Amino acid sequence: MPEKDIYLLAIESSCDDTSAAVLHGRKMLSNVVATQQIHREYGGVVPELASRAHQQHIVPLVHQALAKANIDKKLLSAIAFTRGPGLMGSLLVGTSFAKSLSLGLGIPLIEVNHMEAHILAHFIETPGKEPPPFPFLAMTISGGHTQIVLVRGYSDMEVLGETLDDAVGEAFDKTAKLLGLPYPGGPLIDKYAASGDPEAFDFPIPKVPGLDFSFSGLKTSVLYFMQKHTEADPGFIERERDNICASLQRTIVTILMQKLRRAAKQTGIRHVAIGGGVAANSGIRKALAEAESKLGWTTYIPPFQYCTDNAGMIGIVGYLKYLDGRFSDLSVSAQARYKIGG
Ligand code: KG4
Ligand code: ZN
Repeated sequence: MPEKDIYLLAIESSCDDTSAAVLHGRKMLSNVVATQQIHREYGGVVPELASRAHQQHIVPLVHQALAKANIDKKLLSAIAFTRGPGLMGSLLVGTSFAKSLSLGLGIPLIEVNHMEAHILAHFIETPGKEPPPFPFLAMTISGGHTQIVLVRGYSDMEVLGETLDDAVGEAFDKTAKLLGLPYPGGPLIDKYAASGDPEAFDFPIPKVPGLDFSFSGLKTSVLYFMQKHTEADPGFIERERDNICASLQRTIVTILMQKLRRAAKQTGIRHVAIGGGVAANSGIRKALAEAESKLGWTTYIPPFQYCTDNAGMIGIVGYLKYLDGRFSDLSVSAQARYKIGG
């Protein structure tokens, strides 16, 4: 089949967003996402509730994605789905759905690694944006991941460093919770930071060897910091909210940039791509823009809809694998821990 006639349906259900997308080659025809609001009440994702909500959303979402793309399911060339990593109950919903549809329609099934998809989201056709050239460095930063990857080719990736504990998005969300902000607190920290002084307070930068990260210490130090100050001055947090947010954001951005600069130095690569929900953060965007002018980097950030969890990014990997004939058989199963290249 000529490349231009490849239509792919993609499914993402690894965490708390259910998503379905239809691609025509590298072009996105539709990319619909149902974000589960229920977790807000709990201040974090509740796995059992997530899988139940995926179960409710998946069929209507696939119909919606096909309708929006204006194509009949009979036109589909293959179906791609997230095999892992993620929450087992959530992954099972997408995996079972994709396997059944592949069997029902008699079309190939393509498993996709969610972390590779965050990286290859840069290759979705986007007007005015060029994808990064190989080799490049990719940093995926979200509520579930913090990883620096050396990308030599579509299927030639090496993880250089990752978090040893919390993901960077969790660091934002958990410290925001300590400040009394609702979940997810990352965007609010970013918002309040804009009116605060980033040098107002100092939080420790962890000393982690190599290119790995650690964020759990930050949460603890913010807890002690708040306890110390509110004991003597109960109105402290409210009054200093913007300064605390700005200082926290500076600390987190410093941690990320320190490792990214080290990775660039170690590999000699200056093409740096970021993705994941935290890529929306204005502090990291500013730091990357500075690295362009000061360090000669070229940086890449996909449109926001491809940064957060979405099926479009699963679809682009599906398409690239389709071109290579890398299909899965029906014995494939969800894998909660699924390493890049694994
Ligand atoms: O990629 P994503 O939508 O979901 C996954 O975790 O996979 O990322 C969500 C994370 C949350 O932790 C949220 O607080 C964070 O991204 N986030 C931000 C910003 N926007 C989203 N963190 C800091 N600044 C932002 N502007
Ligand atoms: Zn993700």
